[in-house]
Amino acid sequence: MAGYADEPVPEGIDLAKEIRRLAGEKRAVIMAHYYVDGSVQDVADFVGDSLALAQQASRTEADIIVLCGVHFMGETASILCPGKKVLVPDLNATCSLAESCPADEFARFVAAHPGHTVVSYVNTTAATKAVTDVVVTSSNARQIVESLPADAPIVFGPDQNLGAYINAVTGRNMVLWPGACHVHARFSVEKIVALKQKHPAAKVLVHPECKGPVVRLADKVGSTAALLKYAISDTATEFIVATESGILHEMQRQAPAKTFIPAPPDDSACGCNECEYMKLVTLRKLYLCLRHEWPVVSVDADTAARAIRPIERMLDISKRLGL
Ligand code: 13P
Repeated sequence: MAGYADEPVPEGIDLAKEIRRLAGEKRAVIMAHYYVDGSVQDVADFVGDSLALAQQASRTEADIIVLCGVHFMGETASILCPGKKVLVPDLNATCSLAESCPADEFARFVAAHPGHTVVSYVNTTAATKAVTDVVVTSSNARQIVESLPADAPIVFGPDQNLGAYINAVTGRNMVLWPGACHVHARFSVEKIVALKQKHPAAKVLVHPECKGPVVRLADKVGSTAALLKYAISDTATEFIVATESGILHEMQRQAPAKTFIPAPPDDSACGCNECEYMKLVTLRKLYLCLRHEWPVVSVDADTAARAIRPIERMLDISKRLGL
């Protein structure tokens, strides 16, 4: 069993209040990614993008970390905090990008490119990170790639859209693993253009995991944290947002007078831009997870020992660059 499928919670219980009480009692810190449901973001101690979550995990003094996000985020926290208990509310919350890059196949890909520096997106399993030289997130990929020698041949995985974007903005020619995020890859150019015609003053915000033609429509390309910052500080009052729709919760919270319109996916999708894995994290499961201190994310010691090096390298470079 990987999560709390059916276990009920006591009737009439105020879940948010109980979660906060349990967190205090157990010295647990609740961290949430911007893509999880707004109700979960609202009870978290900290809400952030992938880089911020890793940075927070690396410096927390809590005894327990509850990572409300997808599995690789829990793994990263567990690798960075070997003495701490790391919980995720549902082990089924996987990531299509991480799944698209099995470690053994990636290791063969790397072996086929001798002499290349291996740069991996944080959206990978611990085992894939273990065959990586430096990890990046969408917040620091450009700067970390630029910090490598200009003539260094690079293998980049697993997000080919992010990789192509970094190639375009840095002039590098990284060899790309052919992976993609199933949510970001399905935004529709035609539907965004149609939306833009209806809202001509709206600025278009795009996550770099989107395909090139969608990225080219953007007024701002960036990680969830960068898109949020732009939306809050820019003078525009309307934004079309091409990333997982969970981010709209924090955008609307920080800028209640502005209008945020989720960019539509193509017709292959259900009509919404939700990551079904992120949305597996619910208040009910978070409550049960804290109460029973389960499910625990663990990474075997050998994999963790190899995976921590590229993660710490990312954190060190990010610190040096003030990211
Ligand atoms: P950031 O958190 O870097 O914006 O990336 C989003 C994502 O893909 C999370 O899985």
